[in-house]
Amino acid sequence: MTSTNTCSLIPLVFLSFLWSSALCFQPLFSLVGNSSTHLDITQRALLYKSAEVCRAMASAEGRDFSLTIDDSLTISKVQRACSTSGSMLISTIIFQSSITNIYLSNAAVDVVQALSESLHFDDETFKGGRDVITAGVSAVKASVKLDNFVAGRLNLGRVCHTLQDFYSHSNWVELGNKAPYSTLIRPDQQLDNLAGPSVPTCRNCTDGDCTNNLLPEILQQRLLTSGYFNLFSSAKPAGKCSHGGAFDMTSLQDPVGGINKDDSGASHGALHHQAAGLAVNATIELLEDIRLAVGDKNFLRLMGLSQSSVLCFVIDTTGSMGDDIAEAKRVSFSIIDSKRGTQEEPSAYILVPFNDPGYGPLLITTDADVFKASINRLAASGGGDIPELCLSGLQLALTAAPPSSEIFVFTDAPAKDAYLKGAITALIESSKSVVTFMLTDVLASRRRRSQAQGGTLRAMSQLDAQLYQELAQASGGQAIEVSKSDLTLATSIIEDSSAPAVVTLLQAARKPGKPDTFSFLVDGSMRNLTAYITGAPSLTFNLTSSSGSSQGSSQANGPLGTFSTVGNLRRFSLRIDNQMGLWEISVNSNEPYSLKVTGQSSVNFIYNLMEAHQGGHRGYSLKEGRPLKGGNASLLVTVTGSDTAKLTEVTLVEGSGSRQVNGSVRVLGSSNYLVTFSNVPEGEFSVHLRGEESASATSRSTAAPHTFQRQAPTQIKTSSISVSAQANATSVEPGSTISVPFTVSSTADGVVNASATGTYTVRVSNDHGYASSAPATVTLGDGGTANGTVELTVPGTAASGSAVTLTVEAATDADVNYAVLRVSVAAKVTDVSGPVCQMISISDTCPSSSALCSSAQWQFSAQLSDRANGTGIDSVSVRQGNGTLNTSKQVGAAGENFTMVTFSASCCAQTVELVAVDKAGNVGTCAGQAKLKQATTLAPAITTGAIPTTSTGVDNTSPAWTSASHSAIGPLMCSYISLALELMRVL
Ligand SMILES: *[C@@H]1O[C@H](CO)[C@@H](O)[C@H](O)[C@H]1NC(C)=O
Ligand SMILES: *[C@@H]1O[C@H](CO)[C@@H](O)[C@H](O)[C@H]1NC(C)=O
Repeated sequence: MTSTNTCSLIPLVFLSFLWSSALCFQPLFSLVGNSSTHLDITQRALLYKSAEVCRAMASAEGRDFSLTIDDSLTISKVQRACSTSGSMLISTIIFQSSITNIYLSNAAVDVVQALSESLHFDDETFKGGRDVITAGVSAVKASVKLDNFVAGRLNLGRVCHTLQDFYSHSNWVELGNKAPYSTLIRPDQQLDNLAGPSVPTCRNCTDGDCTNNLLPEILQQRLLTSGYFNLFSSAKPAGKCSHGGAFDMTSLQDPVGGINKDDSGASHGALHHQAAGLAVNATIELLEDIRLAVGDKNFLRLMGLSQSSVLCFVIDTTGSMGDDIAEAKRVSFSIIDSKRGTQEEPSAYILVPFNDPGYGPLLITTDADVFKASINRLAASGGGDIPELCLSGLQLALTAAPPSSEIFVFTDAPAKDAYLKGAITALIESSKSVVTFMLTDVLASRRRRSQAQGGTLRAMSQLDAQLYQELAQASGGQAIEVSKSDLTLATSIIEDSSAPAVVTLLQAARKPGKPDTFSFLVDGSMRNLTAYITGAPSLTFNLTSSSGSSQGSSQANGPLGTFSTVGNLRRFSLRIDNQMGLWEISVNSNEPYSLKVTGQSSVNFIYNLMEAHQGGHRGYSLKEGRPLKGGNASLLVTVTGSDTAKLTEVTLVEGSGSRQVNGSVRVLGSSNYLVTFSNVPEGEFSVHLRGEESASATSRSTAAPHTFQRQAPTQIKTSSISVSAQANATSVEPGSTISVPFTVSSTADGVVNASATGTYTVRVSNDHGYASSAPATVTLGDGGTANGTVELTVPGTAASGSAVTLTVEAATDADVNYAVLRVSVAAKVTDVSGPVCQMISISDTCPSSSALCSSAQWQFSAQLSDRANGTGIDSVSVRQGNGTLNTSKQVGAAGENFTMVTFSASCCAQTVELVAVDKAGNVGTCAGQAKLKQATTLAPAITTGAIPTTSTGVDNTSPAWTSASHSAIGPLMCSYISLALELMRVL
């Protein structure tokens, strides 16, 4: 395998060293001075464009928007400015998670992407690099069209990486360019002025100084080149520039040295900040193209700029579920109807039905009415003799929902597909979503069903329910067991979770049960505290507030609040009454129980497990799978909802005991912290965080900073098995097969045990149930590792823009670990050019005096068509202008399809800019401007409706369209004005 890729990971360990030298913009954290990383560049661009779109929407809706859009934007500032609720309670968790996912996906290109110089614009692969961008942008647009924002973010991150690397790896900056190279996102444009394959581009650096190593003739002729890179070979075409840096073998070869601007210490490090600035602007330009294609609202959804989480139901639809379906319907309709049009309206709706033998299809929509119609169509029928495909349905929901969602599963039957338990656990740990089961008639159902269905057996015993309990506990959710008649009382928990800015203060379980006392810290920002306890009927508890008041379980209504019991769930609404500080809850039960305390607050956090590569704090990448037992674990922790909150302490606390591991915290900036734990023992842990919030408007206390405590619901487990898997491509075409090689090894104290032997069971599954093949077992060989390959076939019917999530588990009887891989489904892009437009006319003239404008109208008409092999026009909208747009589809003399548009507006709004998008998501924009009556002629009073509509006869040669080019609008408008003036002179 010969790689010429700067940032790939072949072999893994080798790259670990590479991170110590500059190979591309650093992925996440800067090592050299205050250099910009892919994280910085991406976040800046995302915040900038999100704020701009919010401003445009605010202006269209006549709302104030006071945020200054500059380099000082933060996630909290943008979220607050974009919020229309005016509430002080603002959760940024969804926005932050979305941005984090985008930049982690961006950074992963450096770790994951094995064989491609085009992903990094190395080796003068300009066409290859642009093809990567074109395909990626089109995949993002296709995902958004399917409301699949999770897949969209994944692709967006990857595309941004390649686009940004161009500015570091090519000589674009050295050529003196001050604007992004738009051709990279305009596949219909020529890549001009490339230095040919045999054209020398560099000369030796002198004494390690590479400032002037580009050949003067290259600069004079403004030829584009990029650096060659190779880890293993110094070979490169004669006279070509290298990337540079200690690990680039080609840079040792004449001409020695390199041209990269990856950080301020790189070969052309003096230009690093300029390159990073252009990379930001180029990313903004790419985001604008996506925004125009998907529209403002969907763009903000892609950004995760939403206050509320998704509403996600997984529902058993077999015969006995009629009542449960009716209740799921009631509660979801109630949430939808009470929140519609508000900031609390769920950001998306997900519905997955299951029964036997089927599950799905998955519905994911942002349209409440579509969700309502789908849930209305659910009917309980069939099933009966065997358990249902509950986990298959849940698997689909877990991969479709954004991270940290809450998923509700309704069933009264055991899972037939219990073999998916490992995959489900993997997805829970990976997505950090919370799964709550509404289990009806556990125990009772057997009798009822036997009666109803002639003695067939499909009862759920306590043993069956245990699977659901374990999954709930792993995720930080609950397994609520109620009678069908009491379900209505239990679903209040769903309404609780759809409240804004819900945070977890405490989450614990005891299994086997034992009496225990738990404490949680109530801070000044906290509202609406609720405690949930699930356990046996005999369970009792006692709650004590920070000021010493107490209330026991015999007192449903007392000084600390009110509680109610339904089935195995007790729900306690707490009255805080300014009692900040440590509260305690003592639970007395010898049966298993779980406990959860939530409240509402802006301040929260997210975390991602990171993998450290050798060389200390050098390189980190997102880690999928469990951390290794006895080894180190690293978390990227981000405090959300406040720019002033500071993290002070992060601990891993054992879920079912009181063991704790303290992490060491390193500040990274942008509310990010790297937290490292050494020697994590075996067990199940959850992440606890403490921090300080300086007194702010959200705080009731006015002076001293207050301490806050939060807990992540998801449990982290350790494993001694290491599993890594890497697909040979990041996307797959419908109807084709992708190979995913994987490696399994046995570890001790966090490192591979080279002398280990043994055989592991391999289980592979994907959320769509697509066909796959994989070995059933693998046996450790040389070096204590085993290799295998999964072949996954995506059917031809898979939608472009969707994604497949593959889990690969390796297990022994006592231990399991897994890798999770997300592969996007993307059809080959054939239509790469946007719609074209031919202006037909600008009719009627407007009075030159603005005082008279309101009594006159003007009209712009044009003919739009997609090019010969185009996919056809999908939508036309007004981007700028205030008037009425009419469109009609027509067929021309030669049978060609086109769309006629007319735009009529008052003369008080004299410009229009239209956006046309084809079915492949390519964008064209078009601008027009009203003609003015010459200033010298006194404008006659025009009576509305009395104006004859005369065509101005503008000829067809006038290029009214610019394909996705926004910079061209200015000159275009000027040409309209001069054209209009020209015509007036003629008339
Ligand atoms: C460039 O540097 C290399 C290595 O120092 C040297 O062998 C070669 O002669 C130099 N080439 C020129 C044209 O000076
Ligand atoms: C990026 O664009 C902004 C706004 O157009 C401009 O002010 C800034 O100078 C640009 N940055 C670079 C590095 O060209």
